[in-house]
Amino acid sequence: MAMKTSRPLIVSVALAALAALAASPLVACAPKLSTPLADIPKLTSLDAVMDNQSTIADPQWGKIGAASYTDGDYTAFGAVAERIQVTSLKIKDFSKGPEFDALAMKLNEKAKALGAASTAKDAKAAGAALGEMKATCKECHSKFK
Ligand code: HEC
Repeated sequence: MAMKTSRPLIVSVALAALAALAASPLVACAPKLSTPLADIPKLTSLDAVMDNQSTIADPQWGKIGAASYTDGDYTAFGAVAERIQVTSLKIKDFSKGPEFDALAMKLNEKAKALGAASTAKDAKAAGAALGEMKATCKECHSKFK
């Protein structure tokens, strides 16, 4: 009497789809990805590079413009700076032309500035670098995404 006790296939499929939906982040649409830094150069798609960027940077955007930061914030900014310096260089492997490459290098500069500001625990400079980094993400997306 398997037919009576087992769940109809359509219900199982629907439940599996619902579970997948519930597990995916609905607010941030990009998948979370934290590829080890040493493996970033081996990534084979621009999406994977971008997902690595948003995974580390998105949680920090809310701190743009704050009057002061904690040591924990500076540690987090340092990690963003280190990672985005590597990913920004990788972006150029998926070049869409000179303007695109220039924006990737601009992102690299902002990451370096954020790193220096975090090491110095300079709140004004860190907030500015973070804000300029986000603006650079947006600038490239509005032109090339
Ligand atoms: C040099 C240009 C450029 C810069 C700078 C840039 N992006 Fe992107 N990004 C793109 C392009 C182009 C796409 C679309 C890629 C595609 O769909 O193939 C994209 C897509 C994305 C996506 C969607 C990926 C997916 O899985 O669909 C996310 C998330 C993202 N970028 C985050 C960021 C963040 C965060 C930054 C800044 C730290 C950033 N990007 C900076 C060009 C850029």
